[in-house]
Parts: sequence; C-alpha cells; structure tokens
Amino acid sequence: MIERILVAYASRYGSTEEIAQVIADEIRDLGYEVDCMNVMEVEDVTPYAAVVAGSPIYMGKWLPEAVDLAKHFRVELNERPLAAFAVGYSMKEESDLIKKSARASMNELRMYVHPQTEGTFAGKFDPEGMSKADLQIMKMARATPGDARDWTAIRKWARALPSVLFTLKE
Ligand SMILES: Cc1cc2nc3c(=O)[nH]c(=O)nc-3n(C[C@H](O)[C@H](O)[C@H](O)COP(=O)(O)O)c2cc1C
Repeated sequence: MIERILVAYASRYGSTEEIAQVIADEIRDLGYEVDCMNVMEVEDVTPYAAVVAGSPIYMGKWLPEAVDLAKHFRVELNERPLAAFAVGYSMKEESDLIKKSARASMNELRMYVHPQTEGTFAGKFDPEGMSKADLQIMKMARATPGDARDWTAIRKWARALPSVLFTLKE
C-alpha cells in the first residue's frame, strides 16, 4: 500500500504555501501519495502515515493557526511521524543566532508535539499586496524586498523526509 503523507501549511502572503507545494511535489516524486493543504482545511490527520507542518515566522513565532493544528491534533500527531518547518525572511542571512531564533519560533509547537525533524528556510518579502501594518513593521526592521527562498535547500530537505520519518517510526 502506498503511504499517504500530509503537508499542511499556514501562509499569510503565499510564500510558505509555495514552499509547501514544492515539498509536496518532491515527496510525491518519491512515490508517495501526498495531500497539500492549508492548516485551516485539515479536518483529520489519521488517514496519513506522516505529517509535514510548516508556518512562516511572524514576530518570532509560528502563525497561530499552525500552532492550533498541533494543539487540536496533538494526540494523533504524536502517534505518527511529524516534520516541521519554519520560514522567515531573517534566514536570508546565515548565522547561528538567526538559525537559533528561527528554531525558537517552533517553541510553542513543541509544547504539544515532538517533530522528528525540523527545517528552517529563508522566505520572501514582497511589499505588493501586504497590509499597511505588516509593511510598517518590515520598514521598521529595515528589511529590503526580495525572494530569499533557496529551492535547492528546500528540495533537499523534502527528499530526505521519508527516510528520516519512516526510519524513526520502525
Ligand atoms: C509583520 C511581519 C513580521 C515578520 N516577522 C518575522 C520574524 O520574526 N522573523 C523572520 O525571520 N521573518 C519575519 N517576517 C518575514 C516572513 O516570515 C516572511 O516574509 C515569510 O516568507 C512570509 O511567509 P508567507 O508569505 O507565507 O506569509 C515577518 C514579516 C512580517 C510582514
């Protein structure tokens, strides 16, 4: 039987959604059946052999609806392999401190579930379509617009997931 994997994401402006879709495509290419959906669309995780959950980082944290997924399905998620990833624009600069703070964005998540593996990826800042409040915060942080997503790193992480998740399960 083909194992089914869920890739669930939160996303305010779409850049994490695109990362989730690439992760789903990579896993699908390995021969798995993959569903990719927004965390708010997830009604049940029990049909899945493993779950990959991701969120962008806003003000140092995962989006609340992504944490809610873990809170709501914590029993079921703790019964199956789980991978988590965080997407933040600060990650466009590589330093141990930035990586550490990106990992810390998942602290709340870890109160409910225990991901076997975690990824941290650089995101995107496109002022077009952004709310005034969000734009103001990015301006205050002196962020310059750009797309820092490293598709090679994302694809590499995704391709390694089945072996990481299913080896640990057995
Ligand atoms: C108001 C605001 C706060 C943000 N806070 C952080 C942060 O604390 N750390 C970080 O690395 N990136 C931060 N970002 C950048 C986003 O995480 C990044 O742009 C991400 O790709 C957005 O994902 P989305 O398009 O899926 O919503 C922030 C962006 C905004 C607009």
